[in-house]
Amino acid sequence: MTASFTPALGHAALSGLYDPAIALLTRERVWRARLLDQVAPKPGETIIDLGCGTGSFAVSLAQRAPGARIIGLDPDGDILRRAEAKAVAAGLDIHFVEGFSRDVAAILGDGVADKMVSSLVFHQLPMEEKRRGLAASLRALKPGGTLHIADYGRQAGPMRLLFRMVQSLDGYENTQPNADGILPRLIGEAGFTSVRESSVLTTPTGSISFYHAEHPHQGSV
Ligand SMILES: C[S@@+](CC[C@H](N)C(=O)[O-])C[C@H]1O[C@@H](n2cnc3c(N)ncnc32)[C@H](O)[C@@H]1O
Repeated sequence: MTASFTPALGHAALSGLYDPAIALLTRERVWRARLLDQVAPKPGETIIDLGCGTGSFAVSLAQRAPGARIIGLDPDGDILRRAEAKAVAAGLDIHFVEGFSRDVAAILGDGVADKMVSSLVFHQLPMEEKRRGLAASLRALKPGGTLHIADYGRQAGPMRLLFRMVQSLDGYENTQPNADGILPRLIGEAGFTSVRESSVLTTPTGSISFYHAEHPHQGSV
């Protein structure tokens, strides 16, 4: 993939350390479990994991809901190979696709997903990419579908200082809008309704917010 993106841990050479770093620095088990409960995957649903990275959350989705169609999208071919190996080792049938979030509907189709999920991705994206990724997510959802994001959100008090470790790896320009709490506004501007921050979790690298939003049109989901 030629266009640029920020790799999972800020630099391509660090990708092999991504899983242990996330386990150590983000209270990973707590936030992934909380996001999984929020998504509540069900057999028969199509769920797209935007910026799936090494596939940890896609694997959790598939394990929670055998019979759901889980698709992981990421622009980093190297990280997708790691994700595929993880899914195969777990005996799971997960479909991994190379691409940017802004292209999710163009690649996978309009109105195909019951749920869109994304974890620790939007804080890395330039402003325009955040907007385009959310607009494309809305297009990829079925009417009545839902969006679920866990990511570094508004950083308050000491969390602002802790979040600087992430900012030093991923760059200040892309991460600061998240730290200022911009995501709910951008989600609403993209056309989603019922946008809410369902909870916030403090971690050693800043606080992670959980966002929930709905496709504006009613459906059978
Ligand atoms: C910090 S990692 C998070 C990975 C995974 N979601 C998780 O929970 O562990 C961010 C991921 O976003 C991907 N990424 C970067 N820019 C992207 C874009 N424009 N669209 C989709 N994914 C992107 C990176 O390749 C990386 O795998």
